[in-house]
Amino acid sequence: MNKDLIRNQFGTHAEKYVTSVVHAKGKSLQRLVALANPEKHWQALDIATATGHTAFTLAPHVGTVIASDLVPEMLEVAQAEARKKNITNVRFEQADAENLPFEAESFDLVTCRIAAHHFPNVNKFLEEVSRVLKPGGKFILVDNVGIDALLFPDEKSSSEKEFEEASKAYNQFEAIRDPSHNRALTIGEWSTEIRQTGFEITAVEVLDKDMEFDSWVQRLNTPEDGIRKLRSILDGDIPLLRRYLQSRELDGKIWFTIKEATIAAEKSV
Ligand SMILES: C[S@@+](CC[C@H](N)C(=O)[O-])C[C@H]1O[C@@H](n2cnc3c(N)ncnc32)[C@H](O)[C@@H]1O
Repeated sequence: MNKDLIRNQFGTHAEKYVTSVVHAKGKSLQRLVALANPEKHWQALDIATATGHTAFTLAPHVGTVIASDLVPEMLEVAQAEARKKNITNVRFEQADAENLPFEAESFDLVTCRIAAHHFPNVNKFLEEVSRVLKPGGKFILVDNVGIDALLFPDEKSSSEKEFEEASKAYNQFEAIRDPSHNRALTIGEWSTEIRQTGFEITAVEVLDKDMEFDSWVQRLNTPEDGIRKLRSILDGDIPLLRRYLQSRELDGKIWFTIKEATIAAEKSV
């Protein structure tokens, strides 16, 4: 994945993330704080902070938060928001999630919310999270997830191949709207990767995130042709994808659902 594409795309649309409801008010913000159970003296790092919603939610509960992002325009908007909100314990630093410019074992808590599906190399990202965390430090990952049997435990009639195909189709759906989407891993894939990096997983939760189609495509200025393809996928006939997206019309607007997982983990002591 070309990081210039990410810089260009997020740099152009930075302001929209201040008011985007899924980012500003998503239920996972409160779950993330509850699962982190932070202490007042903690040093926290929020990776891919965008306009700072996660960092600002954490700020009252910890000593300091470093809010980091690859894209400087995002950090400028986030910094202006911190000033407006009178938040004084958040510092802003440009950082690539796969190559963090921070000392080893310097944070008690690392968070990363709704961003890892952009990262080309999740192994490097997880290794970096592990490197900068103190032993016993906490890691809370929130992200949209692909489709696997862990999401639908009652789904006995679908084969592994059908799950894989549905997950691939979901990722294609995301990538049509957002060319910087790399891949949303499934809960099973994340769990394996996180454990292999030396973490113990302490909680996995899944929330339904209801999305209004028009504002979702407008946030990234998806062209008409892309909008047509997305509509046909929403009306498509892959049973597991239909079950995942739950496309419906309410008051003349199209809505669908994305599954967002919150995974809490601890670095081994
Ligand atoms: C959807 S926004 C994140 C939302 C934010 N975490 C929140 O809770 O509101 C995705 C962010 O990921 C950032 N990003 C993408 N790739 C990155 C990378 N390799 N390293 C750091 N940030 C990255 C983008 O610049 C963008 O700000």
